[in-house]
Formats: sequence, structure tokens, C-alpha cells
Amino acid sequence: MPRLTAEVTHELNFTLNGRKVTARAAPRMLLTDLLRHEIGATGTHVGCEHGVCGACTVQIDGEPARACLTLAGQAEGRDIRTVETLADGAELSPLQDAFREQFALQCGFCTAGILMSLDALFQSRPDADEGEIREALAGHLCRCTGYAPIVRAALVARDRIKGGPIDA
Ligand code: FES
Ligand code: FES
Repeated sequence: MPRLTAEVTHELNFTLNGRKVTARAAPRMLLTDLLRHEIGATGTHVGCEHGVCGACTVQIDGEPARACLTLAGQAEGRDIRTVETLADGAELSPLQDAFREQFALQCGFCTAGILMSLDALFQSRPDADEGEIREALAGHLCRCTGYAPIVRAALVARDRIKGGPIDA
């Protein structure tokens, strides 16, 4: 009878929301599991687990990425940002505040991923137009809102972030 052995794990070093992190992960562990179960960063949600719904979206080196399609080992040396990084203590970011104000969420399951995609968009394209916003949202499934309030909130946040008029 084969002898059962403990699964091999490897040390990982990366940056999570601005802090250096050291963790251990088995070769097949997903980034979602590393974040949620090993580190306790449960803001990243897991929905479909096969890259369709977008709930698990985080930023890796500033780019939106599906954490459910990313191996934990791929975090090595990278800069990872999750939804936990957006608020400053109890103070919501302009994007989060616009979502709250514009009723852009109901159950909120999709929201963390959507916020991370929109945050990445506005970091690189502060003047993103509605078409670009809708394109960024195209990789996200929301079963509650019908998307209109999400687009409205994104437009409001964009204008607040760049200090212009609110056109939504
Ligand atoms: S949980 Fe990753 S895309 Fe759905
Ligand atoms: S707010 Fe419920 S899935 Fe989007």
C-alpha cells in the first residue's frame, strides 16, 4: 500500500496591498485559496471558479487578473492588490462611495471584482469614457443590478477622481 506523504509546499514572497508577505503554497494551490484561506483576505470572492464571472478579480502588477485562474505560485515577486486596499480605514474610496451612493450593488457578490477592474481602468485611464467603462465591466457577471447603476457609479467616480463635473 503506498505511503501517504504530506503535500510539498513552497515559500512565496510578494507584496499584498502594499505590504511584504511571505506564505507557503502547494504547487496546485490557486491564488484565491492563498488569499482567502491562508492569508485571510476574504474580500476577494469566488463564484464560478473557472474564469467566467469575474468575482475573483484582483490586480497583479496593476492589471486586472482572475485569481481563480492564477496559481498561488504566480504571485512570487509580484505586486498584488485586492479590494481590501481601496478604503482608508472606515473611509471609502471615491469609487466605493459612488457605488454606495448610486445603489450599484445589491447582494454585493460581484462588487469586489468589479471595483478592482474599474480601479485598474481609472489608474491607467482617468478619462475613460462610458464605452471603456462598459468594456471593463464586460468580464463581470452581476445577477442583481442590471448594470445601469454600476455604469452610473463608475461615471460619477471617474468625474470625482479627476475633479470634473458629474455627468451621470
Ligand atoms: S470565480 Fe474567478 S472568474 Fe468566477
Ligand atoms: S450585486 Fe449581486 S451579483 Fe452583483
